[in-house]
Amino acid sequence: PTIYAITPTYSRPVQKAELTRLANTFRQVAQLHWILVEDRATRSELVSSFLARAGLPNTHLHVPTPRRYKRPWLPRATEQRNAGLAWLRQRHQHQSAQPGVLFFADDDNTYSLELFQEMRTTRKVSVWPVGLVGGRRYERPLVKNGKVVGWYTGWREDRPFAIDMAGFAVSLQVILSNPKAVFKRRGSQPGMQESDFLKQITTVEELEPKASNCTKVLVWHTRTEKVNLANEPKYHLDTVNIEV
Ligand code: UGA
Ligand code: MN
Repeated sequence: PTIYAITPTYSRPVQKAELTRLANTFRQVAQLHWILVEDRATRSELVSSFLARAGLPNTHLHVPTPRRYKRPWLPRATEQRNAGLAWLRQRHQHQSAQPGVLFFADDDNTYSLELFQEMRTTRKVSVWPVGLVGGRRYERPLVKNGKVVGWYTGWREDRPFAIDMAGFAVSLQVILSNPKAVFKRRGSQPGMQESDFLKQITTVEELEPKASNCTKVLVWHTRTEKVNLANEPKYHLDTVNIEV
């Protein structure tokens, strides 16, 4: 099956560095289609030229987050992930679905190559541990007799699916047979996006544990430090204009 990675991304000083790391990983994965969704009203020149040279099958989408939703306490990338879902559904509407697996790959996380081997065998919805998240070294689904029976997490244990966006994959078939499943703005509390989405398409009992019954960390919720641009001149002073 093809792995479809949906990556929301937004313009900021570290963007090209993040995308470079991500592309260097994805280039080593067979049959991966990268759906990059910019949080912007138009496609940026930076991302367009980056993708043209990335050497990866890709789709370049864009949708701006409405200003009222750009708040630190509100979920990020809702509209962008939905744009990726809409593109997938549109693309497969006329053909009986080719085998595929969808995965939400934020631009700042760190992904091992083993992770892609694990997710490729997803039948419906698969799950695995995520490192460096939830105020702990890792969060993970607790597995008993091959089934998920609970969650090891330090944060909001009341979440129906106590899992980060980087902790699950969904088969294309499930995406197509649940055409209304999307990320919601209304009523979605911080950290509940994953649960709100997953409960539209699956149940905890149905989840397929990966990474040796969820005992291995193959993805890390790394976050890049905000760059210090205190010495950046107000007006362009250099003799050349360099893309960073
Ligand atoms: C956590 C989760 O890991 C994310 O999956 C979730 O979207 C996010 O919380 C949330 O609050 O909604 P965190 O590291 O805090 O992640 O979030 P970011 O990495 O800053 O953003 C997640 C993704 O959205 C990234 O790919 C980022 O490039 C993108 N993003 C972020 C935008 O497209 N627009 C923004 O304004 C901010
Ligand atoms: Mn992040």
